[in-house]
Amino acid sequence: MAGDEGMFDDAPRDHATQMRMLLYSQLVSRSVSVLVRLQIPEQLSGRSRSVQALADHTGAHPLALERLLRALVPFGVLAEEAPGVFALTPLGATLRPDAVGSARPTAQLLAGEIGTTWTQLEYTARTGQSAFQQVYGSDLFAYLEQQPELREIFDRSQAAGLSLETDEIFSSISFDGYRHIVDVGGGDGALLCAVLERAPGSVGTLVDLAGTVSLAEKRIAEEELTHRCAAVVGDFFDSVPAGKDLYLLSHILHDWDDGNALRILRTCRAALPEHGRIMVIDLVTDGCRSADGGAGGHQLPAVMDLYMLSLFGASGGRERTRAAFATLLADAGLVETEVRVLPSGMAVITACRGD
Ligand SMILES: C[S@@+](CC[C@H](N)C(=O)[O-])C[C@H]1O[C@@H](n2cnc3c(N)ncnc32)[C@H](O)[C@@H]1O
Repeated sequence: MAGDEGMFDDAPRDHATQMRMLLYSQLVSRSVSVLVRLQIPEQLSGRSRSVQALADHTGAHPLALERLLRALVPFGVLAEEAPGVFALTPLGATLRPDAVGSARPTAQLLAGEIGTTWTQLEYTARTGQSAFQQVYGSDLFAYLEQQPELREIFDRSQAAGLSLETDEIFSSISFDGYRHIVDVGGGDGALLCAVLERAPGSVGTLVDLAGTVSLAEKRIAEEELTHRCAAVVGDFFDSVPAGKDLYLLSHILHDWDDGNALRILRTCRAALPEHGRIMVIDLVTDGCRSADGGAGGHQLPAVMDLYMLSLFGASGGRERTRAAFATLLADAGLVETEVRVLPSGMAVITACRGD
């Protein structure tokens, strides 16, 4: 019909462009990791610098570096204050090692083995097997025990992520009244140290694999908590110290399938005295809220579940709903006493013995 020729629906083109950006976004992620590997955030700490000065300092190729830095401007990571002079934006400043909840160790982690694992996601999709196991011939935690440098980066990344969660945890959960707190799979001790600082009458024991326990001992000493806190090597499938008041399982159950998650809960249940509590801290897939109530709130659990899928395969670790956690706890002979879902989508689920 006359006049209709110029009318067409822009939506399919917009979607096609949006899809390309989704596909190209791995280049942005890679570029941020390169920025970190070249230690550019440290160079831009509190000041702007020219590409030439950054290239001289890092040994990078000046023209290539300039293009890489400029490409990160529209993504809000860097600002180009004058031609060829770059500074960190507030978003970019999260890559500094001293930033609150620094994203630096996560960028380092993704630049190495974990990022390589993601290139094999098709293998996982086709076979259901762990891409990590396929590439490195070992499960993640056994591999980390053999690779102390990677272990340290992994633990730092966990600790930095936790530091973003602790404020909301402490604003809604009280640890007063728990005399002896066991952090099961406590990593480098970031959470347990933070808890003990807020609970001066409590003592703590951290249980983890050998490589991590030595890092936890370092943190406990740095935080001057050795008189109230110990780190011990242990296997949470076998046993944890018995008869204590609170057993923390922070970001543990999502690493395991239901059968193994149940084994861990049963180990804790066997150690739990009548008055004791188990506290599970984990993301719940139906708990995330974004500021605008939109898709943003669902993207974090979606990405985290893909991360688990790539590491542990289809029948391994996974993110769970609140109901799935309730079922696991009930199957382990535990009864929920309190469930708090925090604004970030993290749930803090407290449980006691069911008998
Ligand atoms: C995802 S990290 C969580 C660390 C910390 N709880 C947190 O909230 O960040 C899982 C932890 O479980 C530990 N882990 C894995 N297998 C274990 C086992 N069989 N016994 C004890 N700890 C184990 C790992 O070494 C790692 O520190």
